[in-house]
Amino acid sequence: MKFSVFNIQDKQSQPFVTIEHSHEHLSNNIHDIIIDHKASLVGITSKDELIVKFIKARSWHEYMKLLWNHSRVTKEVKGNKILSNLGLRVPRIAEVGLGVIPSHKYRFIGYYVMENLKKTGFQELSILISNDSISDSIREKIMFSIYSGLKSMRDDRIIFSDFHFENIFSNSEGEVIWIDTGVSVYSKFNNKKFVKKFNQSIKKYGSGNKLSHEEIIMFNSLSIQSN
Ligand SMILES: Nc1ncnc2c1ncn2[C@@H]1O[C@H](COP(=O)(O)OP(=O)(O)O)[C@@H](O)[C@H]1O
Ligand SMILES: [Mg+2]
Repeated sequence: MKFSVFNIQDKQSQPFVTIEHSHEHLSNNIHDIIIDHKASLVGITSKDELIVKFIKARSWHEYMKLLWNHSRVTKEVKGNKILSNLGLRVPRIAEVGLGVIPSHKYRFIGYYVMENLKKTGFQELSILISNDSISDSIREKIMFSIYSGLKSMRDDRIIFSDFHFENIFSNSEGEVIWIDTGVSVYSKFNNKKFVKKFNQSIKKYGSGNKLSHEEIIMFNSLSIQSN
């Protein structure tokens, strides 16, 4: 079994059990923190400048979920694979660890290390839109790509849990990468619930994302008509 400990701005983290790792030797020093909020701490490793997302326990209940592998860490890592299998682009994950030993200093339930999308010219879609730095045709390409991604998810009974434009990365070519990949997959025996949840999620896509009238119509067209 492999254990990992990180230095987060010179403070030592709790130990994690590493459950997936590549052959690369990754740096365990986090010098820059991108975000540190209730749900997670996302930082950049020194030297190789990879992204590490530490997921926080929002309640003690979340530790229990670790025991049967249903934690948000597993959910996001699994979601990353599910979306990739659908043909959607997601960040490459290099390492995954679980925080099996709770600590008072950092209450993380786990972490994953992934490629830094900013190093390859990608940026949060929310920023690209607020900068006005993309042309109408690139915006159209991006929105259509998101729409097609959601349609593939719908066809496979998948709901992307936290859809907003900070969780979509894009570049000047209009390519799209999905991050924060927590998804729920519904079996066909649970169709009623899936239809209800999916249609609720479509409404969410329209609100809060500063979409044009045409874009709202396009996203709304994904909603499932129950018979
Ligand atoms: N692979 C990545 N490359 C570059 N920046 C990233 C990457 N993953 C996350 N980030 C940055 O960290 C922020 C938070 O990450 P996210 O996975 O969305 O965490 P949360 O679940 O807390 O919203 C993102 O909005 C983005 O700015
Ligand atoms: Mg997010």
